Parts: sequence; structure tokens; C-alpha cells
Amino acid sequence: MTYIASTGRYGDMIYNRCGNSGLMLPALSLGLWHNFSESDHFENIREILHLAFDKGVTHFDLANNYGPPPGSAEITFGKVLREDFKSYRDEMVISTKAGWKMWDGPYGDWGSKKYLVSSLDQSLKRMGMEYVDIYYHHRPDPYTPMEETMATLDLIVRQGKALYVGVSSYSAAQTEKAIALLRELGTPCLIHQPKYSMFERWIEGGLLDVLGNEGVGCIAFSPLAQGLLTNKYLKGIPEDSRAALHRGNGAIEEGEITEDKIKKVSRLNEIALNRGQNLAQMALSWVLRDERVTSVLLGVSKPGQLTDSLKCLNAAPFTASELHMIEDVLRTN
Ligand SMILES: NC(=O)c1ccc[n+]([C@@H]2O[C@H](COP(=O)([O-])OP(=O)(O)OC[C@H]3O[C@@H](n4cnc5c(N)ncnc54)[C@H](OP(=O)(O)O)[C@@H]3O)[C@@H](O)[C@H]2O)c1
Repeated sequence: MTYIASTGRYGDMIYNRCGNSGLMLPALSLGLWHNFSESDHFENIREILHLAFDKGVTHFDLANNYGPPPGSAEITFGKVLREDFKSYRDEMVISTKAGWKMWDGPYGDWGSKKYLVSSLDQSLKRMGMEYVDIYYHHRPDPYTPMEETMATLDLIVRQGKALYVGVSSYSAAQTEKAIALLRELGTPCLIHQPKYSMFERWIEGGLLDVLGNEGVGCIAFSPLAQGLLTNKYLKGIPEDSRAALHRGNGAIEEGEITEDKIKKVSRLNEIALNRGQNLAQMALSWVLRDERVTSVLLGVSKPGQLTDSLKCLNAAPFTASELHMIEDVLRTN
């Protein structure tokens, strides 16, 4: 059946300006790290992607290595793009990245010009696209001069293979340097993609200030701590959860669901219920409470999780007392 996007798709979404750029991103974006590979159920993938776009989620985030096997999330996304989304391409912001190990030998990892250029060519082929909207360097590279990596991002934009560029998981100091180098080259740094959630707050120690001062956007990955910041693990580890599935590649493992964490999750869950949200929704609203955060980058395994999570956008702002109670939970050992 031909996919026709919902006519009301822009009605309920909030779009935030990405730093000082001309680009608006949905407050909630969809990431394809897990659950979108060739070993996942294709009709489920398709349903999630259709639902997302129908709800105004215009931004889809990929990377060369998303799978397993690496590259297969780009292949499945490319199939849906080709078969269903073709006429909507210009209504979407599609990103990919390189920086983690993708292929054997010295040219398939880190941040050299050799790696970033060939990896993007491969990604474009897998997705069947002429250009991506955002190309990221996926992690800082201690071995390659940052001048080379940033000059490559600039080159890629000039070649028309990406419209914008960004960095992921760079420290505050590394980000400052990357922003300055890119500015000098004439290609602004659009966005930073850091890990950020109630359980992972490193960006509050300087990075958010750098991004705010420099007018660079911020898209927070793993805002639910891979599902831990939901009510799903309160009564054990469900069979179909990420922790039970041992997906590897940095996916949350059963051993990370500790009693201490569940105690906190349980208290956070109470706070969420008292403000009329479930915990997943509150965890997303909490990440979005800082105006410097452009978008939360959510992962889902089922369409219902997306519908549920999107309700975070309707929440009332946090009261000072709610924020205080959350801090209290997060700071106790
Ligand atoms: N730049 C980087 O280095 C980097 C690293 C990691 C991720 N990312 C990006 O960030 C995206 C999101 O990361 P993530 O998947 O770890 O994010 P996450 O949103 O923290 O966790 C996603 C998981 O949370 C659960 N979930 C989502 N909504 C739910 C709801 N309403 N109720 C209950 N459970 C819910 C699902 O778990 P189950 O699967 O158990 O159902 C889902 O798979 C990735 O896809 C990727 O695009 C980037």
C-alpha cells in the first residue's frame, strides 16, 4: 500500500531552532541505533518510521555502524525512504556519522580524512541518498589532528554531500576548538550530540555553556538511559527489553539494572506520577527543560513507545519544588 503522510503531521510537534542556524529540529527526534537493523522485524520498523513522520518527527538519526551488522540500519532506513518516503525527502532531516570502528584496517575507524570521506560515500550508497542533512564526527580522535577532521567536514559540505556538520561526545574544550576551526573554515558547527539524561549529566559541567555561548545546537542521546528511566524495569527485566536481548555494541546489560538504580527509578516514578506523567515522559521533559537543548534523541522498539513518549511535549513546565525533589533523588546514594 502506498504510504501517504498524515495531513495533520505538523500540528502537534514543537520545532526548535538549532543554535543560531537556520535549521529547525523537532523537540523529539528518532534514533535508529537499535531495533532498525536487518535482523529486526521490517514491518515494525516501517510502522515506527511512518508513525514518527505522521507525528511531526522530521529528524531521523543514523550512523555508519548502526545495526547489527554495522550498516544495516542505513540499509533498512534507505528501503523505507525509497519505498514510502521518497516524495517527503525534503521534509526530513537525516543524519549519519563516522568515528567508531566500521571496517578492518587502519582506514575504517577514528577521524582521518581517508575514513570520513569513504565512510560517508558508503552511507549515501546504503541509504540511496545524494546527501545527508547532518554529518557528524562520532567521537573525538586522540590520534588525528583536529584540524584534519574539521577540514574534512568542511570539504564534505563544500562537495554537497552534507548540508551541515556536527560533533558527538566531544568534551567542552574539544568542542570549543572544533567550533573555532570550523568557523575559520567557513562551515559553522551546527550541533553537538552528547549523552544526556537524569543519570548522565556531564554536559552540565561546561559543554552546555559552550554550546549556548557559541550558538551551537544540542541533541541529547539516550535520554531514557536506554530504557532504565522508564517504568519497565521496576518489576524485573522484561523478556523483550533491550537489557534482556544482549544486543551488544554498548547496549544496556542486565548487570546495569542494579538495586540502587531501581530504588532511584522508583522514587522518580512517584514524582512523575504526581505531576501527571509516566517516568519516560518526565525523563524526556527533564532533558528538554534547558533551552539550550534543541531536541531529545529517542530510541524505541515499538510504535506504542513513540506515541507514549511524544506526550512529554504536552507537559506543564517543572515547578521549582519538582526540580528540587528530582535533584534530591539523583544526589542521594
Ligand atoms: N552519538 C552517539 O555516540 C550515540 C550513542 C548512543 C545513541 N545515540 C543516538 O541516540 C538514539 C537514542 O539512544 P537510545 O536508544 O539509547 O535512547 P533511549 O531513548 O535512552 O532508550 C531507548 C529505549 O527506551 C525504551 N523506551 C523508549 N520509549 C519508551 C516508553 N515510552 N516507555 C518505555 N520504554 C521506552 C525502549 O527500550 P526497549 O528496547 O527495552 O523496549 C527503547 O529502545 C540512538 O538511536 C542514536 O540515534 C547516539
